[in-house]
Formats: sequence, structure tokens, C-alpha cells
Amino acid sequence: MADAGTRQPIGVIGAGYVGLVTAAGFAELGSEVWCVDIDAERIARLRAGEVPIHEPGLAELLARNRARLHFSTDVTGALEHASLLFVAVGTPSTYSGDADLSAVHAVVAAIPPASDRALVMKSTVPCGTGAALQRSFREQGKEALGYVSCPEFLREGSAVEDFLHPDRVVVGADYGWAGDAVVDLYAPLGAPIVRTDVASAEMVKLASNAFLATKISFINEIANVCEETGADVVEVARGMGLDERIGPKFLHAGIGYGGSCFPKDVNALKQLAGNSGYHFQLLTAVIEVNELQKRRVIAKLHKHLGELPGKRVALFGLAFKPHTDDMREASSLVLAARLNADGARVTAYDPVAEGQARQLVSGISFAPSALEAADGADAVVLVTEWPEFLELDWREVTQAMAGSLVVDGRNALDPAAVQAAGLVYEGIGRAPRATPDERIRGEASEAAR
Ligand SMILES: NC(=O)c1ccc[n+]([C@@H]2O[C@H](COP(=O)([O-])OP(=O)(O)OC[C@H]3O[C@@H](n4cnc5c(N)ncnc54)[C@H](O)[C@@H]3O)[C@@H](O)[C@H]2O)c1
Repeated sequence: MADAGTRQPIGVIGAGYVGLVTAAGFAELGSEVWCVDIDAERIARLRAGEVPIHEPGLAELLARNRARLHFSTDVTGALEHASLLFVAVGTPSTYSGDADLSAVHAVVAAIPPASDRALVMKSTVPCGTGAALQRSFREQGKEALGYVSCPEFLREGSAVEDFLHPDRVVVGADYGWAGDAVVDLYAPLGAPIVRTDVASAEMVKLASNAFLATKISFINEIANVCEETGADVVEVARGMGLDERIGPKFLHAGIGYGGSCFPKDVNALKQLAGNSGYHFQLLTAVIEVNELQKRRVIAKLHKHLGELPGKRVALFGLAFKPHTDDMREASSLVLAARLNADGARVTAYDPVAEGQARQLVSGISFAPSALEAADGADAVVLVTEWPEFLELDWREVTQAMAGSLVVDGRNALDPAAVQAAGLVYEGIGRAPRATPDERIRGEASEAAR
């Protein structure tokens, strides 16, 4: 894509969803990349040409740029060859809801004093982290170390596309050469660059995720009101989304947001506000609505099946969204645990997330296909809208099931197709629609009167 000779080499610390995509993406743009992770098994697999995560297009990108990618458990090579060290380590929630920055601190600790490198923070960190880290650089005799906040906005499932075609790149740097160097690296992508201070860059990331989560909880509440009033949230969202001030994205009602980012980032912003003495009421509601939304499926199952002990429920999909194997904070975790607690017998199928799911969920069975999961089921719940579920022949599902209930937790199925197969369709915030047969019968009886 670019002349390798003109591109600066970089280091990437952390070879997870963000780190690997960043490493592969910059290698594609022509940089030599030294990618470091403390997980020796992960590094061994990467060196052997394996890809440890499921992310569309990543395997091809890594393979194409193998000669420019150097994987190691040791940061020495990155320090030797690169001035910019992109930090992409995990920042999970602590019990208090704050972000756990221990991995970030471990990265700083591994950098020797008097190193005139710069850390480029891709990990999502609370506003104020950059300032605190720069103070700690001085305390540790590392004042030559530069700092840039460059938050990551990629979405799992389309991370490679998002790296290559970002809506914007945010570069927060208070002073020094490193901000310009990061801008140069991203320049070939042609995306708008937002140059700002470190604290504002950190807040752009948290505020963006909090806003998107708010949009999801908002439409979920509208869906719940639709159920009480006879409106159909899919129609409502269509009508709302055409308003340019609102837009159609993130207006899909369902069983709540999950994943490694939204829950922890919304929590972290709420906690950050609280730590500074401000009660962020809106986010408190966003979080609560999301938690309740995951449990609404249980009420729908009760409505149709009565008590759940012994009832067989098939979960179609487990990953927090399609095209990823990531199970962190997936709504399916809450759903499976609730169903277990209620005595239901759960069989799940996910095209790629079974491996991760087995480590997190107990007491459920796994099936090798959707139809096998549906075998003998009283109800099917669509949890993750993988394309293969949208293309199912619902007559085959009807034949496999013992019962007839389909709960569409993502409003992704065609209700008419499900109903035409003789099944009962229950979406989220969707008004029950008459089947074509029922409509014809209704019209006939109207005519007879
Ligand atoms: N996953 C996303 O969609 C996404 C999107 C935007 C931002 N982010 C943020 O990016 C950061 C990374 O997220 P992720 O999903 O890639 O996490 P991840 O858990 O997939 O990867 C983190 C990697 O860092 C490694 N690591 C931990 N400590 C290390 C150390 N001291 N030195 C070297 N490697 C170390 C881990 O072994 C792991 O492989 C988080 O702050 C996250 O909030 C994630």
C-alpha cells in the first residue's frame, strides 16, 4: 500500500483485538511492526502463522504482511527499533467500576529510564490517566518518554475495515514531537484527524461509547413501551432514523448491549464522574435499563411456556455480536445463567464462540448446528444475529422443535417467515402481526358480516 522505506517502524504492546488489528493495519500501510504480548502461548501461535482471535479479514492481513510483523514476549525489540509504542493492553473494570490500569502500569514499568520513545495510548483509559502517567514518568526518571492519547474506535466484527477506513482519528498530545509522528502514520488513511489535548482525547472515547450505549438503552425503553401500546419499535426506529438529526444507527431494540467495551466504558465514565463528585444520572439509568433488558426474554418465555423447570430452550448465538468469538459481557451469559436458575434445560449453538463460551458458562449443552440445538426445544431464542440464523429454513426448525415459540432477541428475523412455518414469533417491542392466513380469515369474516 505504501513504500515501506518511508514509513516509520512502530511497536504495539498487547496483541489482542485492538493490538493485533493495529499491528496488522500499520504493517499493511508499510511499517515494520514489533508486536509484544506477555501471553507466551499467543505469541507462539502468532509466530507459527496462527490467528488467536476470530476477526474477519485479519488472517489475510497478517499473512500478507508477515515479513513486516515481528512477534515477541519481550519489549526489547520494540524499544530498539521503534520510537512510537502503541499500547493496546486490556483495561477491564475493577470491582469499584473504575478501570483497572495495572496492565498499563506494567507497560510503563517495562520501559527503561532515559528512553526517548513515546507511548501512544490505544487502550481505553479514564480521562486524567495521561496526565497521571506523565507525572509518574517524571517520578520514575522517565521524563524523556512522550505521551499521546489516540483512542481506538474499531468495532469487533469489522475491526480491519474500521482500521483502514476510520470515521476519524483522534490524536491528543499536549506537546512534543510524538503527536505529529502519530498524525503522519495515520495520514495515508485520509480520515479526518482531530488534534486535541490528552484529556479531551480521552473523553472523546468515553463520551462516544456512553452516547452509543444511551441510544441503545433509549430505543430499548421505547420498545418496552411499544409492547404496552401496540406500536412496533422497528417501524418507530425506521421513522425516527430518517431524521438526519437522529440517524438510523444504534436504534435497534434487542436484549441489550454487551461486549468488552460498552459495559466497562459506560461504568468507567459514571465512576469517573462520581469520583469527581458528580452524579451522572443519565448513565445510571442507561446501565440499569440494559441490565433489565437482558432479562426481558425470561418474562417472554414465562408468558408463553409458563413455569420453566424442565422446559427446553435453544439459544441461537452466544457471542456478544455477530462476526466475533468475543464473549466478554455477552447478554447470553446473563440469559443462560437466569435460565439455569429457573430450571430450564438449555442447548446453545454459536458458529465461532463455543470455545470461549465453554470457559464462561456452566450447566448448558452445546450443539454443533442450529437445527441440532433446536431438536426437541420448547422455545428458540435468537441471541446473536449471525447471518446463518437469518437464512434458516424455519420449516426445518419447526420440524426439529417440540414446541413452537421463537423469541427474536435482536429483532433480526422476518416475523412472517417464522409465522408461516407455523411458529409463534415474539420480538422485542414488536406488535403481534396477523399471519397472512389470519388476515384472510379476518377479511372473510368481515365480509360475511
Ligand atoms: N475490543 C474492542 O472492540 C475495543 C475497541 C476499542 C478500544 N478497546 C480498548 O482497547 C484495549 C484492549 O482491548 P482488547 O479487546 O484488544 O483486549 P484483549 O484482552 O483482547 O487484549 C489485550 C492483550 O494485552 C496483553 N497484555 C496484558 N498486559 C500486557 C503487558 N504488560 N504487556 C504486553 N501485553 C500485555 C494480553 O495478554 C492480551 O493479549 C482496552 O482498553 C479496550 O477497552 C477495545
